[in-house]
Amino acid sequence: MNTLALTPREPRDPTEWERYYALRWRILRAPWQADGPEREDDEDDSVHRLLCAPDGTALAVGRLHRLDQRRGQIRFMAVAEGEQRKGYGSVLLESLEQAARELGLQQLILQAREQAVPFYQQRGYELVEKSFLLFDRIQHYLMRKHLEA
Ligand SMILES: CC(C)(COP(=O)(O)OP(=O)(O)OC[C@H]1O[C@@H](n2cnc3c(N)ncnc32)[C@H](O)[C@@H]1OP(=O)(O)O)[C@@H](O)C(=O)NCCC(=O)NCCS
Repeated sequence: MNTLALTPREPRDPTEWERYYALRWRILRAPWQADGPEREDDEDDSVHRLLCAPDGTALAVGRLHRLDQRRGQIRFMAVAEGEQRKGYGSVLLESLEQAARELGLQQLILQAREQAVPFYQQRGYELVEKSFLLFDRIQHYLMRKHLEA
């Protein structure tokens, strides 16, 4: 599939929102049979991006929220099983970074799972420090990127 032909956008209707949260849960929570809410309290204050295949299948999701006047945080980046390493995560992250610039943000931070650190480094994020352990086993790393205007 030509990734350049696909444009991330906010989910449009209840079906797309369902697919958005379902993919996020399936990739980031279900493998660990984690308890917890499918949705967080701050979803309404976040920018959401969904990348869909032409048939409507959710390929990639991610969100951004403002931390303060100049900083934002990327969370919940997830690409469908069997669709990873095809460029969808990069397209989605670029869309969230563009949204951050439009909000006037100058810096993005995120908590990367160990396996995703090379992905974010390749997208210009610097590793700041080892941070927390999720579900007692998934090591996270704080990463940061300064946005060009
Ligand atoms: C991490 C994730 C979002 C990246 O999205 P993606 O669509 O797979 O990544 P892309 O195809 O856009 O990758 C672009 C480049 O990043 C690097 N990269 C991506 N994943 C990588 C990995 N696991 N190991 C090393 N490098 C990686 C590569 O340089 C890659 O380019 P290449 O495939 O030509 O070598 C996706 O793989 C994913 O959802 N993984 C499981 C859930 C997860 O870990 N989410 C992140 C939580 S912080």
